[in-house]
Amino acid sequence: MAKTALITGITGQDGAYLSKLLLEKEYRLVGLVARRSSDMLWRLKELGVADDIEYVDGDLADVTSIRRGLDKCCPDEVYNLAAQSFVATSWQQPLLTAKITGLGALNALEAVRQHNPKTRFYQASSSEMFGLVKCERQDESTPFHPRSPYGVAKVFAHWATVNYRESYKMHASNGILFNHESPLRGVEFVTRKVTDGVARIKLGRQKELRLGNIDAKRDWGFAGDFVEAMWLMLQQDEPDDYVIATGVTTTVRDMCRLAFGHVGLNYEDFVVVDPAFFRPAEVDVLLGDPTKARERLGWVPRTTLATLIPMMVEADLARVARE
Ligand code: GDD
Repeated sequence: MAKTALITGITGQDGAYLSKLLLEKEYRLVGLVARRSSDMLWRLKELGVADDIEYVDGDLADVTSIRRGLDKCCPDEVYNLAAQSFVATSWQQPLLTAKITGLGALNALEAVRQHNPKTRFYQASSSEMFGLVKCERQDESTPFHPRSPYGVAKVFAHWATVNYRESYKMHASNGILFNHESPLRGVEFVTRKVTDGVARIKLGRQKELRLGNIDAKRDWGFAGDFVEAMWLMLQQDEPDDYVIATGVTTTVRDMCRLAFGHVGLNYEDFVVVDPAFFRPAEVDVLLGDPTKARERLGWVPRTTLATLIPMMVEADLARVARE
């Protein structure tokens, strides 16, 4: 019998790649969508899957709407990907971030518990929880020290998931995902801002690119690889928490070098450091240790940053040329 999955945040980058993966595995797919509009479906359309999904109206802030969504489709698996996910915005809207990113996860857990506690549950945890890192490589035992309202909200959601697992024996797992990017990334995030900027500069539509802290280091992987780990977590006999990362860290500066270099330009000629993009508290460096995921899930990242960034630049060159 085909399985049914309910995905919150299905219109985001990860929702799109996970949808494609689950449809390939012949799942019946249901997306919980807060405010439906055809524009929002652009990522699902780009991957050619928008018409293969059933959509139900619902918002993580409204537990009754999640319950209605669950009653409607009775899923075997729930993937909670919805969040206010842009770290910089979380200082502008800390309460909204807490409500959606933090409490929203608890709403989803509670709705699942009431509907059918045997439903398998995936929570999109984040490496932002490590924040002011306590060791060089972060794994599942590294203590959290979040540095943004977003990180704080994710810590709440993470522990709520652990608590539901321990309290109600639910099959609830946290994927502690390090940064993961793709051509479907929103332009507010730094990799896509850079690849979009490179395309605009190369095609003569823009003269410079204003960035914040280019000395920050991130462990960047490909979203298409990372969603496989989400699915694998829910196929295990026992629920657990897993770090999903590449194990390689790179500065924003070197990522810029790679992106500009791909079109034969030198980033130093175009990137302007603008303090307006600095954050009140920064996560200087993230570097994940995905050993547990490799050993227990058999998951390994396939795409390096050196492949990913050119892929994103090419997609943006095509998009900008079409404009
Ligand atoms: N967005 C952005 N824009 N970031 C910049 C800029 C800029 O102009 N200039 C420098 N940066 C730096 C940020 O200060 C940060 O250190 C780094 O680039 C990455 O920023 P983002 O791409 O916005 O991602 P993030 O690391 O804050 O958060 C992402 O990854 C998390 C996992 O660790 C998001 O996807 C989160 O939702 C996710 O949980």
